[in-house]
Amino acid sequence: MGVFIVLEGIDGAGKSTQAKMLAEWFEERGHEVVLTKEPTDTAFGKLIRRLVLTGGRVGIIDGAKISHEAEALLFAADRAEHIHKLIRPALEEGKVVISDRYFYSSLAYQWARGLDLEWLIDLNRFAIRPDIAILLDIPAKESMRRIKGRAIKTEFDRIFELQRSVRNNYLKLAEMFPEIRIVNAQNSVEDIHRDIIGLIEQEIFKRA
Ligand code: TYD
Repeated sequence: MGVFIVLEGIDGAGKSTQAKMLAEWFEERGHEVVLTKEPTDTAFGKLIRRLVLTGGRVGIIDGAKISHEAEALLFAADRAEHIHKLIRPALEEGKVVISDRYFYSSLAYQWARGLDLEWLIDLNRFAIRPDIAILLDIPAKESMRRIKGRAIKTEFDRIFELQRSVRNNYLKLAEMFPEIRIVNAQNSVEDIHRDIIGLIEQEIFKRA
């Protein structure tokens, strides 16, 4: 079996930058890496972008055109396809899979939408657990500073409130799921990368 690593965090936490750096780190060490993300680029991911997200601006902000439950089900359907078509086969081939967001995003965001956490956990129970889920933690204020260009001005307060509640949810989830490890994502890109590598060496390679 390969190694399955997930990066999580609120919008603007730096997940995609760190995912790329981590992928390069593994490749330099001779591993075959699959770098992936949720929502995916499959038909389900496209449906989510069309029905739920705000045209590539700040993700899930301006309210779904669909019910929150349908939104959670779409993210879960996208995830099921992601696992069956890509994640599981890659792990079976011994590859390193790095996913930018996974089911913890559904718990943190859809819980912030007001859905029941237990229902969300049940809904996502099919999702294989990663070896480690790294939570890139930044305060909502810092997130807003970073995503300013992506945010719609008139939506600022609502976006800020959502980011704040999603961040708090992530921190609560970190107490419930032992595989979630927190990294302070206010540091420099290089320092964050170093912290992530430290965790990977400690949590994954110590077991090898
Ligand atoms: P994001 O990582 O911003 O994707 P992209 O940059 O490709 O648009 O994710 C889009 C938004 O979707 C983000 O605000 C988080 C949200 N989201 C959920 O609410 N639930 C989920 O299960 C996932 C995977 C994402």
